[in-house]
Amino acid sequence: MRSVILEDGSDFGAWRSAARELLAAGLPPAQVQWQVGGATDLFGAAPAPAPADPPAAAVGRVPREFMSLADTVLAHSDPRRHAVLYRMLWRLTHGERKLLQIATDDDVSWAHIAAKAVRRDMHKMKAFVRFREVAGPEGAVFIAWFEPLHDIVARVAPFFVRRFTGMRWSILTPLRSAHWDGETLRLDAGADKADAPTGDALEDLWRTYFANIFNPARLKVRAMTQEMPVRYWKNLPEAALIPALIQDASARMQAMVDKAPTMPQRRIPAPVKPVPAPLPGGSLAQLREQARQCRACPLWQPATQTVFGEGPDDARIVVVGEQPGDQEDLAGRPFVGPSGELFDRALAQLGIERHALYITNTVKHFKFEPRGKRRLHARANAQEQAACRQWLAAELDRIQPRLIVCLGAMAAQNLFGSEFRLLEQRGQWITLDESTRGIATVHPSYILRLPSEAARAAAFEDFVRDLDRMRELAP
Ligand code: URA
Repeated sequence: MRSVILEDGSDFGAWRSAARELLAAGLPPAQVQWQVGGATDLFGAAPAPAPADPPAAAVGRVPREFMSLADTVLAHSDPRRHAVLYRMLWRLTHGERKLLQIATDDDVSWAHIAAKAVRRDMHKMKAFVRFREVAGPEGAVFIAWFEPLHDIVARVAPFFVRRFTGMRWSILTPLRSAHWDGETLRLDAGADKADAPTGDALEDLWRTYFANIFNPARLKVRAMTQEMPVRYWKNLPEAALIPALIQDASARMQAMVDKAPTMPQRRIPAPVKPVPAPLPGGSLAQLREQARQCRACPLWQPATQTVFGEGPDDARIVVVGEQPGDQEDLAGRPFVGPSGELFDRALAQLGIERHALYITNTVKHFKFEPRGKRRLHARANAQEQAACRQWLAAELDRIQPRLIVCLGAMAAQNLFGSEFRLLEQRGQWITLDESTRGIATVHPSYILRLPSEAARAAAFEDFVRDLDRMRELAP
């Protein structure tokens, strides 16, 4: 009996080296005892450590598919995995070359089930890791606590490196931890839940957003708990809201059904006269008055009111969003809903006063589709955007800003041309004329819609970095 000790039970390289050595020595699976760590051999035989530089020829003819399957299966927590994989390797190299094609074979089917469980765990880790921001001596560090079922951290860490290259982060788990300092990925021993922080300001924002977008009429508890198993909830900031939202859902839905659709009280005056063309005249205050009566496209009809820009007449910076949302429509002011809250947080982080900016939108009316009592945001189409362009042009003409900041592709393409590509050109200066420059970044709602806390935190950081360029030109 040969006993093989693997220091790290999920290390594919170590298992492969040991397996090659055993194959080369002609040791059948029944004569091999696999162990992880320093435990003694059950049979009392002197354990042989895994060889450092084994011969490769013996496994030369093994299908690539098996190697990739073995790599995944080794992350599984089942202690039988090394033995099953070695038995499969032995069979593949001893007359059963087509073994992997026999789906009903016990070893093959076991390996596929184990690989599936590992892949599912990896998927869950990508979806449910929630970073919390911690102030460190060299700036912000993002730390997450996660409890995977299998030893997947080393396999998933490269995904987080690609996704959050610009952030410094640590993912702590009971078995091992991954740390990224912006340049190097380090894998370490496991950690304690107490080592991870609990809660930060971004989390509150995310919870508010989650509660706002939760639609009781669409609630499917079974599908939800399948995709987001309850075992992950304890580490998800939004999960604390879920039981109460589920409990209230049927009552809230019944109330939606019982109530006839009610629209907010309209504040658009009866049509007076057609909109002046080509460029509306007068001061900003007069423009605002004229825009209240705009009928240039059908959006005025269901909207509560026109949401015109606000801010100083002589602002050096004009910020242009896309179109008002539900809350802006009710308040008659731009960027006062969840997107506005996120924008305000970015400004606060940069020390920029909102009231020094002129804030407006490409389209001045809320466009929506009624769903019971709810009004679901709908994107203004090309004609609606074109019809509204006169107002934005008039605002810019009166203010003559030094800098125009576009939030989102709609604003950027209306102002910089339809060729403008936001993801490629964000954060870059655009010269509009000799005294005015433009710059574009993503829309705050894009950040709020990202699926994970970590993605939102990274996108928020990029957003702040783009906005920070405002200070270069118009301090
Ligand atoms: N999104 C926008 O583009 N503008 C607003 O005013 C609010 C949300």
